[in-house]
Amino acid sequence: MKLFRTVALLALVTAATAWPQSPVIAAVSPAGASAAQDVWWKHAVIYEIYPRSFQDSNGDGIGDLNGITDRLDYLRSLGVNAIWLTPIYPSPQVDFGYDISDYEAIDPQYGTMADFDRLVAEAKKRDIGIIMDMVMNHTSDKHPWFIESKSSRTNPKRDWYIWRDGKGPGVPPNNWESVFGHTAWKYDPSTNQWYYHKFYAEQPDLNWRNPDVEKAMFAAVRFWLDRGVAGFRLDAIPTLFEDPQLRDEPAVGGTNAYGDPILADNYTDNLPEVHDVMRRLRRLVSSYPGNRVLIGETYLPNIQELDKWYGGASHNELNLPMDMQIGFLNKLDASEFRRLIEDVETKINGNQPLVVFDNHDNIRSWNRYGDGVHDEAIARIIATMLYTIRGTAMMYYGQEIGMVTTPPARVEDVKDPIGKIGWPKEKGRDGERTPMQWDDSKNAGFSTADVTWLPVAPNYKTVNVKKEEPEPASLLNWYKELIKMRANNPALHDGALTMVDPTNPNVLSYLRKGPAGSPSIVVALNFTAQPQTVSLDLSSTGVSGNEVKTLVTDADSLRSATSLNRIELPPFASWIASVR
Ligand code: NOJ
Repeated sequence: MKLFRTVALLALVTAATAWPQSPVIAAVSPAGASAAQDVWWKHAVIYEIYPRSFQDSNGDGIGDLNGITDRLDYLRSLGVNAIWLTPIYPSPQVDFGYDISDYEAIDPQYGTMADFDRLVAEAKKRDIGIIMDMVMNHTSDKHPWFIESKSSRTNPKRDWYIWRDGKGPGVPPNNWESVFGHTAWKYDPSTNQWYYHKFYAEQPDLNWRNPDVEKAMFAAVRFWLDRGVAGFRLDAIPTLFEDPQLRDEPAVGGTNAYGDPILADNYTDNLPEVHDVMRRLRRLVSSYPGNRVLIGETYLPNIQELDKWYGGASHNELNLPMDMQIGFLNKLDASEFRRLIEDVETKINGNQPLVVFDNHDNIRSWNRYGDGVHDEAIARIIATMLYTIRGTAMMYYGQEIGMVTTPPARVEDVKDPIGKIGWPKEKGRDGERTPMQWDDSKNAGFSTADVTWLPVAPNYKTVNVKKEEPEPASLLNWYKELIKMRANNPALHDGALTMVDPTNPNVLSYLRKGPAGSPSIVVALNFTAQPQTVSLDLSSTGVSGNEVKTLVTDADSLRSATSLNRIELPPFASWIASVR
């Protein structure tokens, strides 16, 4: 497996605490009996918020929970069904919340538990669920569990973390490397042992071979379920277990941005033991009413590995492990996208794909896929794939308005520690975490502070919500239109996906089959800077109609298209039409 940066660079509700059935599901029941029974998350739009960067309500330059509550109507207007909040628990903020020092409280930077409860309640009024980020692989080194663990070799919590003797004075137990650079072992002089950390040294890994760790972590899961959260996004979940023999990882050749040899991930990632934990966690979460969802941060090498995270045909592990193959392909290659989309359509035992192109760890899709000339058209292609292939959709704040990655220009401005360790090859993740651009006022409407925790991207005067809302052709309105269409169109909601014109290297075309009595949908996306002409033969799909009506396109010339023959797509055009 490759973790984020390496990839990037190159049931009905009964209880008071449960989260409501999505109105979207209620609205689309015409699609047939199966749709009426679908769980809410199956067709959801899940919107990732990096709380520090979304909306600051108290003028300290850092986003907070009340800020998010203030913006719920915007999210509702976009068509969002659930919000995934990156960690808001008390934390020394070395990794901006992914180093948790208390799993059952709110960091004062972001507000209070009362603010959190209000956010959940206000979101619920708008049929929006709150998904918490659960970091089960590691804690902060300031967590009381680790402080105890470190205090002596005989402390009862010693075995909650991975402590080992070095190979000799100053020599770590083996060659394992941190995802964030250099050795994954930190020496503790007071007990003369080393502890393992897959991420920063301030994020010691828990020892999941100790059953008390699972008990404690599952108690935290219950704590939030009892408060009415809609589910969890499980951080770095494939890294829960390590090889008990501590075998050295083989080098695979080359060096990474930190200057370390690149190693295989055989002994610290995606070990089979993790699946037992996932099955137990699924049982726990399923025991709550309201169809709470389990989402996984699952960077995996192929579709077979992804299928295991659903529990394959047993469907008894995660509901939605993220498919990182599609969204992080990082090149506009029609043939490759076709293959990857067919993979999730056909090779995951009828489980529901979770498609994602953007998150807080990767350069924004605008920059990863854009060619510098047709960036906005390419952003529409990405959005079209996200909302018209069969799957649950996950998006990242600002994606809908075309926010760009703005990395720090000087090392002294870097906030994300990996940007300091890896400068200048690895500038860290600040660039994709800049404040949300609401309008063209001070700090883009994000904060009234004189200094914000990260600077607002300079393009905020022209790229912002307020400007895009009234413009029919804006990227924001493209997102809104797609989200609305997907929620209401039976073929997009449920229909099987079949590739058409399957050998075309330049244009990706597919059909979503409408249920009986409803039109099917065809999508054609020109992945090139040249005009392309396609004729779409649907004979292999079992759809015989030829009455074509354009639903959404950014090509004026295609608005009045009436036939599937000789469709002329301008450079990087997106075309979505119904066929009867
Ligand atoms: C994945 C998170 O998305 C990332 O931001 C974090 O640094 C690591 N896991 C460690 O928790």
